[in-house]
Amino acid sequence: MHIASLELTHFRNYTSLELELVSGINCIYGSNGAGKTNILDALHYLAFTRSLRGSNDKQVVEEGAPFFVVKGQVTKENISEEIQCNFVKGKGKKVLVDQKPLKKLSEHIGSLPLVAILPGDTDLINGPSAGRRRFLDMLISQYSPSYLTHLIQYDRLLAQRNAQLKLFAAHGNFDSEQLELWDAQLVPHGKAIFQARTDFIADFQPIFEQYFKKIVAQQEVPSLHYHSQITENTIDHWLARYKESEQKDRYNLYTSVGIHRDDLRFKIDKHSVKDFGSQGQQKTFVIALKLAQYQLLQQQKLQAPILLLDDVFDKLDEHRLSQIAHIFDREIEGQIFVTDTSRDRMEAIFAQKTSRPIAFFSVQDGEASRD
Ligand SMILES: Nc1ncnc2c1ncn2[C@@H]1O[C@H](COP(=O)(O)OP(=O)(O)O)[C@@H](O)[C@H]1O
Ligand SMILES: [Mg+2]
Repeated sequence: MHIASLELTHFRNYTSLELELVSGINCIYGSNGAGKTNILDALHYLAFTRSLRGSNDKQVVEEGAPFFVVKGQVTKENISEEIQCNFVKGKGKKVLVDQKPLKKLSEHIGSLPLVAILPGDTDLINGPSAGRRRFLDMLISQYSPSYLTHLIQYDRLLAQRNAQLKLFAAHGNFDSEQLELWDAQLVPHGKAIFQARTDFIADFQPIFEQYFKKIVAQQEVPSLHYHSQITENTIDHWLARYKESEQKDRYNLYTSVGIHRDDLRFKIDKHSVKDFGSQGQQKTFVIALKLAQYQLLQQQKLQAPILLLDDVFDKLDEHRLSQIAHIFDREIEGQIFVTDTSRDRMEAIFAQKTSRPIAFFSVQDGEASRD
């Protein structure tokens, strides 16, 4: 499966753009602010009907224009299909497949599997734990619908337990037994989520480690650690933990125990990547995490996802660059889009080494063309 052509109208700094793409490696180069990431953003719209950068749709419409359209001609096993995502200010967003509008945007999501590696992804290492939980949740729910159901139920019950704590404070009373009713309802969902996270990390670790080791020359041993306040996944243990923190929760008006406080700890050779890792090491760590995500998605979808790489080559040494190029060439079967400020650098990384179809696109002030 690949995107054979892309057509944009009033999308960010592109008034109008048409590009013929290759099924292999598409290299997009140009100076800062030229519009490289905007092309990746458009591809992200085709897959997920939303922006790569989390912008809202209005911000994506070209300044002064009333709408945007992103169209992609997608080839799947010799069958070609047109996917269109458009947004009209004041009217909203639509997805059309071969000109036919879908009833719900969510019907489309998942049919064009895509993984993006972005400069901001190191937030996964340096940012708050919520980002790491989101990463885990996204990966697990991709193949386990029941996981998502547990998460939704858990979040709903947690909000109710917290509301109960606030209600006690507002009324100046406290009733342990009433709180225990919420605890008993939370536990089955919390237990299922804890178990799924534990199992997932055990499966994910070797895939991740294998990519990391392929990229680095040194004998660095990377690891992922699941960190939870829950140390024993039994009903009794969960209930005991709630009991222990009852007074704390009562005064903080917040449930301090549970899987909503979980974290993932990233290490290289027993050292925290956040505190001790160089920028290059952090970047390598994230690239290996994302490549492992790519492989899992491929197994689940039974087809090779599209891979977007935005400015990933900065701050990586020659060896790592050449290893990554090797992985892209030999192990990633899906279509790849890479951006970089330097054509020469991309050429050096890919052109001589790859046997896959490769094309270069130069981007300047809202115009892009294939060399
Ligand atoms: N809605 C929009 N309308 C017009 N221009 C936009 C819009 N959104 C972003 N841009 C412009 O796009 C440019 C950034 O493009 P981007 O793809 O991020 O550059 P880069 O090549 O560095 O990746 C900026 O000049 C910005 O002003
Ligand atoms: Mg950019």
